[in-house]
Amino acid sequence: MDVGTRLFRSALLGLAGNRVARKFSERYGMKLGASRFVAGETMEAAIEQAKRINQQGVTVTLDYLGESVSSLEEAKGCELAYLDLLQAIRASGIDGNISLKPTQFGLAINEDSCLASIRKVTKEAACLGLFVRLDMEDSPWTDATLRIVRTLKAEGYKNIGTVIQACLYRSRQDVRALSAEGINLRLVKGAYKEPPSIAIPSKRKVDANMRHLIRTRLDSGVYTAIATHDEEIIRWVKSYTRTHNIPRTAFEFQMLYGIRTPLQAALAREGYTVRSYVPFGRSWYPYFVRRLAERPANVLFIARSLFKR
Ligand code: FDA
Repeated sequence: MDVGTRLFRSALLGLAGNRVARKFSERYGMKLGASRFVAGETMEAAIEQAKRINQQGVTVTLDYLGESVSSLEEAKGCELAYLDLLQAIRASGIDGNISLKPTQFGLAINEDSCLASIRKVTKEAACLGLFVRLDMEDSPWTDATLRIVRTLKAEGYKNIGTVIQACLYRSRQDVRALSAEGINLRLVKGAYKEPPSIAIPSKRKVDANMRHLIRTRLDSGVYTAIATHDEEIIRWVKSYTRTHNIPRTAFEFQMLYGIRTPLQAALAREGYTVRSYVPFGRSWYPYFVRRLAERPANVLFIARSLFKR
């Protein structure tokens, strides 16, 4: 990645956390182009999109957008929204599960109350036979997120997992430990702005670390979601699993709603499990800005589509 792109990406990621920009943008609804990456502002819209995606042979994980809530009342609102979502998944018959962000459940306010809230959602999901994944946010929340997952796993919940980011130096150690504990993981490159003291600065090295983590997980036999749109890595996973006799039931590919949609369907047709991450809700701004930062060309694409209106 050249210096200009790196600076641009860093500036965009800075904007993702800006509350004023967030309020301003969300007031304009999805008109800023967010609908390319967000399935809608309501649960009903997301369920409709999920049904459409299922018809392509692709399963989903639904994410009710929201993060860094500023009160426990807001966190409670998210908990209720997720409980409704679980019922809606079952009632609609879609093939899917849920992803959630711990700071949306008040992690930054009170860890115990966040744990209690996520426990309620996980318990309800277990009753309905559904899986819950805790997304991994920026590094101040890594330890607490892993603590919550480990606590719930130790309490007997088998339907819980989390995410590990290849950009962090600590991740090799985390993956080894979590694999030994049998914890279901999604592996990603990492979407947040992190200091160079803890994060690998070069994209090439992050890509190499992603492969290392994938190999460690595939060799461990613990179920793994490989979440990337990187076609070279996807090709390599297909070849590695073939030559090492790793069954397709041991892993799945995951991609984001609106990105590489034909590739998602093609992998599903080849017989791989593919899951599309389907975000919805009114708090779409930080998620949208992270998608722009991943690919600066997206900013041009959005700008062009705005001028065409
Ligand atoms: P890379 O960035 O190298 O992109 C490979 C190719 O994919 C690009 O060349 C481009 O063609 C395409 N592409 C990638 N991003 C695109 C975009 N935004 N728009 C259009 N094309 C794009 N991160 C995190 O920190 N915590 C988390 O919990 C999650 N969860 C998560 C779930 C799922 C299902 C996915 C797919 C990703 C995440 N991520 C995440 C995000 C992840 O960390 C990473 O930022 C993105 O997946 C982009 O990285 P790639 O692996 O796709 O590779």
